[in-house]
Amino acid sequence: MRHTALYQPLAALFISLPLLVAAPASHAQANPDASALYQALGNQAGIGLIVDDLIVLVLADARIKDSFKETNIKRLSQLLKEQFCVLSGGPCKYTGDDMKLVHDKLGITASQFNALAEDLQIAMDKHQIPTSTQNKLIAKLAPMKRDIVTPKM
Ligand code: HEM
Repeated sequence: MRHTALYQPLAALFISLPLLVAAPASHAQANPDASALYQALGNQAGIGLIVDDLIVLVLADARIKDSFKETNIKRLSQLLKEQFCVLSGGPCKYTGDDMKLVHDKLGITASQFNALAEDLQIAMDKHQIPTSTQNKLIAKLAPMKRDIVTPKM
């Protein structure tokens, strides 16, 4: 009896092992669009180029550049790449701080938020990202507005 008690879970494990191995493929089939946006943006390399251009545009944009005077741009660039990768369904991890915490004391206005979104669209245009793909990334970023923009008193 003691043996059966031990063998049963073991047998169950061996029976389910092939199912577990097959799981990633069937999951991908069930949800083929999970990383479609990530791919449409050109995967990690494409996102890297877009963010590099975004940073150049932001730092030249009179509407927002002053906010970044004391910012570690290398860190910002790395974290934006991670964040866009995660948001678009790519195989990344965001290792930065919470958006509300980071932007809380910066006094960012809604127009400044929109200015950055505009710069992002320009950067994506430069890399021939289709408008429909651009809109999908912007739509993923839009809900962050409430954490980034400082409410008016
Ligand atoms: C969709 C819009 C935005 C996204 C996704 C975003 C994302 C980020 C990320 C990932 C970081 C790095 C967090 C960290 O260091 O752990 C960051 C930092 C920062 N962001 Fe934003 N941001 C957005 C809008 C803005 C806007 C509109 C401004 C100002 C005009 C701004 C100003 C800053 C500044 C100054 C920092 C550096 C803060 C510090 O080093 O203490 N951000 N942002």
